[in-house]
Amino acid sequence: MTRKSVLSALTAIVDPDRKTDIVRLGRVQDLDVKGNRAAFTVSVDNPGSPFAQRVADRCRAVIQAKHGDDTQVQVNIVGIRRGKVPIRPGANHLIAVASGKGGVGKSTVAVNLAAALALRGFRTGLVDTDIYGPSVPTMFGVENERPRVNKARKIIPLEKHGVRLLSMGLLVDPSNAVIWRGPMVSSAVRQFLGDAEWGTLDFLVLDLPPGTGDIQLTIVQTVSLTGAVIVSTPQRVALADARKGIAMFEQVNVPVLGVIENMAFFSPPDLPDRKYYLFGQGGARKLAKSSGVPFLGEVPLEQRLRRAGDEGVPIVVAAPECASARAFAAAAEHIVFAVAGQAATVLPEIEYR
Ligand SMILES: Nc1ncnc2c1ncn2[C@@H]1O[C@H](COP(=O)(O)OP(=O)(O)OP(=O)(O)O)[C@@H](O)[C@H]1O
Ligand SMILES: [Mg+2]
Repeated sequence: MTRKSVLSALTAIVDPDRKTDIVRLGRVQDLDVKGNRAAFTVSVDNPGSPFAQRVADRCRAVIQAKHGDDTQVQVNIVGIRRGKVPIRPGANHLIAVASGKGGVGKSTVAVNLAAALALRGFRTGLVDTDIYGPSVPTMFGVENERPRVNKARKIIPLEKHGVRLLSMGLLVDPSNAVIWRGPMVSSAVRQFLGDAEWGTLDFLVLDLPPGTGDIQLTIVQTVSLTGAVIVSTPQRVALADARKGIAMFEQVNVPVLGVIENMAFFSPPDLPDRKYYLFGQGGARKLAKSSGVPFLGEVPLEQRLRRAGDEGVPIVVAAPECASARAFAAAAEHIVFAVAGQAATVLPEIEYR
């Protein structure tokens, strides 16, 4: 019995209100597997509901069906944890995508992770917090749309490709943004997350501006993040900045869910089995290892991916068969499992293809 086999057995249990299994919903936490004993917590929306009352028995049943009747299963049921709250949009899991260095593909990663989570059936939101250079609206094809405000004066996020999204850049005049300081950004982020009508979300992905300065630190302290994803290219200069990014999250006690290597290699379309490591090989994997955080995979340099960004359709939607789209889908899967196991640093091997 392994963490992976337990989580995989538990995917048979579907929350009837949300029509999604409890693992995907990130409801299985603190999983501990030793010998023939598995212990974990399942968080439920309403501990009094019929589903909540039966869920422990059902967890036991699916695990014992797989691993035998003498398997010991200890299930702790708790009401849903709402995080450490300074701000609480409807999301259960707030994930920040950060890099350190600019231009390494944070927004591309944030957009595709959000779209991949939505494709997997999660209610997903995406916030572009980059007031200086917002790119999410372009990558989602909504640069000419403006969010409306409802009667309660709450901002209604735009919705595209199954993702609810807001970009600070759609509301802030970029020529004013250059004089913004931490406190202004902090209050704008608060308003964005707190005063928007997100509804209930399973995941909210935050695309952070490049760097590890005052603004980024303010944002990550303003919201109660579940975890962070660090994007790096294999280049030494990018890796050095990614390391600072990891340190920033450690400083504020936000778990780093993993490092994803973007622009990892190039395979010419006419020679798809060749890999050219234009920016160096394996750097982000090594960084993850030396920092003790999971490695979330390699995203190749692809013309199709760049075009998808420019055309406003995330590659996981436009061309899910592409190598980059498969890498994003796998990284999203890793993240789902990581938040399911919370502090897990060893992720289950996930087959994708
Ligand atoms: N793997 C890739 N293959 C091809 N093009 C890519 C890849 N990753 C990113 N790009 C392209 O590189 C450019 C920069 O990417 P992106 O905007 O995602 O970076 P960023 O880290 O968010 O930048 P910034 O620091 O300015 O916020 C975009 O035009 C994007 O389409
Ligand atoms: Mg960006």
